[in-house]
Amino acid sequence: MGLLDGKVAIVTGAGRGLGRGEALELAREGAAVVVGEVDEAAGSAVVDEIRAGGGRAVLHPGDCSEIDVAEAIVDVALEQLGRLDALVNNAGILRDRTVLKMTPEEWDAVIKVHLRGHYAPTHAAVRHWREIGQSGRVVCTASTSGILGNFGQSNYGAAKAGIAAFAQIVAQEGWKYGITVNAICPAARTRMTEGAYGDRLPGPGGQEEFDFWHPDNVAPFVAFLCSDASSHISGKVFGVQGDTVELYRPYTSEAAIDNGGVRWTAEQVAERVAELFAATGMAPEAQNGMARLRYTMTTRQ
Ligand SMILES: NC(=O)c1ccc[n+]([C@@H]2O[C@H](COP(=O)([O-])OP(=O)(O)OC[C@H]3O[C@@H](n4cnc5c(N)ncnc54)[C@H](O)[C@@H]3O)[C@@H](O)[C@H]2O)c1
Repeated sequence: MGLLDGKVAIVTGAGRGLGRGEALELAREGAAVVVGEVDEAAGSAVVDEIRAGGGRAVLHPGDCSEIDVAEAIVDVALEQLGRLDALVNNAGILRDRTVLKMTPEEWDAVIKVHLRGHYAPTHAAVRHWREIGQSGRVVCTASTSGILGNFGQSNYGAAKAGIAAFAQIVAQEGWKYGITVNAICPAARTRMTEGAYGDRLPGPGGQEEFDFWHPDNVAPFVAFLCSDASSHISGKVFGVQGDTVELYRPYTSEAAIDNGGVRWTAEQVAERVAELFAATGMAPEAQNGMARLRYTMTTRQ
């Protein structure tokens, strides 16, 4: 018995990296899987792997941020696998540069793949669930680059912070219909992060130790979020890496000042704004949000 027996799930960008691990794990837990992937060869290989393991999978090639492709992915689930229970929005790309050097093409490409690539399949899936009165699960893929803020990734970080907001908002819209929407901020060694998480090393005496940054480590939590067991959890952002899961608190108001019922002048603000920083201990200058990461290569190998 798997957690997802009888279920059907879509994973976008499932040809490699985190999406591949998620598709394989969902299949191991009993789901039939639609592999959405712009790289057809990579997507086919994952479909073959799932079938070789005794699972059911079909490929739908194409760019999931295109509306017709996203709608067709949902149609493939319904027509070829008989239903749809979960959508994992995972597809993503990077075009890193400081904003000064970033071209409009680099900005648009990242915003489109991530934000429209989340909206388009979610829209198609939610429309289907609402039409037939069925509950559903959506897992979105945000990033600490967005919710903490990583230097040189204004396009990617803006998209990923947007995805965290998208998940929180669609979660509210779907709650009374049994449609849950959560976001993960994963961290793993993939093509996207090559170099950042080191090479896999054999442990002492050549024994294989737990490989903290292996991309497949993220998949069991995603399988849980796709299952009936997570029906009470929605609109949340989780950090997921290695053998750890974190729960992020959304932007929270930490302090306030007021002007006694009278509109501020800019000069009055200049005089009193320091009170906000004094009350919170927050520094007014620009800071490296990624310094707040709980798990890094120096804390976990
Ligand atoms: N690896 C990490 O540490 C990390 C950290 C934070 C967030 N993420 C996010 O996790 C997701 C997966 O990243 P990964 O590290 O596995 O990257 P990856 O490059 O290994 O895999 C991404 C896959 O998505 C596919 N893809 C890209 N654009 C697509 C599109 N428009 N339509 C369909 N498929 C598309 C690619 O062909 C590729 O197979 C991304 O959203 C990424 O931003 C990854």
